[in-house]
Amino acid sequence: MDHFLYKDGVLHAEDVPVAEIAAAVGTPFYVYSTATLERHFRLFDEALAGMDHLVCYAMKAASNVAILKTLARLGAGMDVVSGGEYMRAKAAGVPGERIVFSGVGKTRDEMRLALTGGIRQFNVESEPEMEVLSAVAVELGVVAPITVRVNPDVDAKTHAKIATGKSENKFGIPIARAREVYQLAADLPGLEAIGIDVHIGSQLTELEPFRLAYQKVAELTETLRADGHDIRRLDLGGGLGIPYTRGNEAPPLPTEYGALVRETLGHLGCEIEIEPGRLIAGNAGLMVSEVIYVKSGEGRDFLILDGAMNDLIRPAMYDAWHDIVPVIEPEAGAEQQPYDIVGPVCESGDTFAKQRMMPRLSAGDLVAFRSAGAYGAVMSSEYNTRPLIPEVLVNGHDFAVIRARPTFDEMINRDTIPEWL
Ligand code: LLP
Repeated sequence: MDHFLYKDGVLHAEDVPVAEIAAAVGTPFYVYSTATLERHFRLFDEALAGMDHLVCYAMKAASNVAILKTLARLGAGMDVVSGGEYMRAKAAGVPGERIVFSGVGKTRDEMRLALTGGIRQFNVESEPEMEVLSAVAVELGVVAPITVRVNPDVDAKTHAKIATGKSENKFGIPIARAREVYQLAADLPGLEAIGIDVHIGSQLTELEPFRLAYQKVAELTETLRADGHDIRRLDLGGGLGIPYTRGNEAPPLPTEYGALVRETLGHLGCEIEIEPGRLIAGNAGLMVSEVIYVKSGEGRDFLILDGAMNDLIRPAMYDAWHDIVPVIEPEAGAEQQPYDIVGPVCESGDTFAKQRMMPRLSAGDLVAFRSAGAYGAVMSSEYNTRPLIPEVLVNGHDFAVIRARPTFDEMINRDTIPEWL
């Protein structure tokens, strides 16, 4: 459920007409709903009620500091994957003890940053990383709390580019080698292994892969405890999928996911962490764009928008489907026609949808891409020297620009010219 509904014939973000935001900030732009962000966070938090737990929002999904603050004030932790994300979490006021650090390629600088600024745990992914982290911690005179990310070799049944739990993926250590890796951790002076981490992929639409992975983690917890390791925390990653099309898809709900966690891992008495990103932010955001031209091609009509693949890359990168709806509500029974919906960027991949049925639209009309809150703005670029589009946060009747559109000068002046030119 989200808070983007038609009221009086106009799409609203909570209580604000989307057209009013467009008039104020220009198109294209992203708009997020505070109520939806909060609702989704609470769904997870409540799904794990009764278990010692922390919901660490995977901020890679949408990392604007205002979004982080919205969640942090509800008690969210953060899952970060870079020094930059760590600094964003800090800028949002999240204390180190609520920040977990994931990722296969953490650098020494990133380790130092987190060890000096405070960290809940590092989710380490390889033996070389363990050795480096231990050395950095020893240098700083501290002990780094870690979990080891295990790769359970489970098929997440999702798009290949976002599946992470199969043995051919670069993530984690093979679960079969976990005992020796935990032994190495115990032998390294700068590390304390406190738990296990697993994340098998993103946009999972079934619970079964989670069940298989979590059962393996439960078994491993008992084995490692028998080996003498004090396993007291389980980080279960993110990955729960969202409906991208209204009505047709029904991925499992956070409550069902929570019940599965309790069923597979509840008996172990561990503290539970989860790292949802998409489910919290995905349906909490729209990208709004204006039709620049309607062009008649050979046997097809193109809707040429002012938004492009550099603003929302998911369709080009993952063949992802986003519902695209007119901002002015079509009349009931209005005639529909197929359009190829494209952006102005100079490649054919800059196509959002092919032969999409839409009511008849004209230049100047506004359209909204639904489910664009996660992996939208964060994956955008300035390709074609198109300015990063603004982000807007709505809260009830209020809205605020939370990242402004840069001017051309701001973009161009980041380049520096060598003295010989
Ligand atoms: N934890 C780890 C270690 C992850 O790698 C990810 C996502 C998450 C948590 C959050 O997963 P979520 O709950 O959002 O599914 N750009 C792609 C998605 C990439 C996901 C990467 N890792 C997309 O647009 O579909």
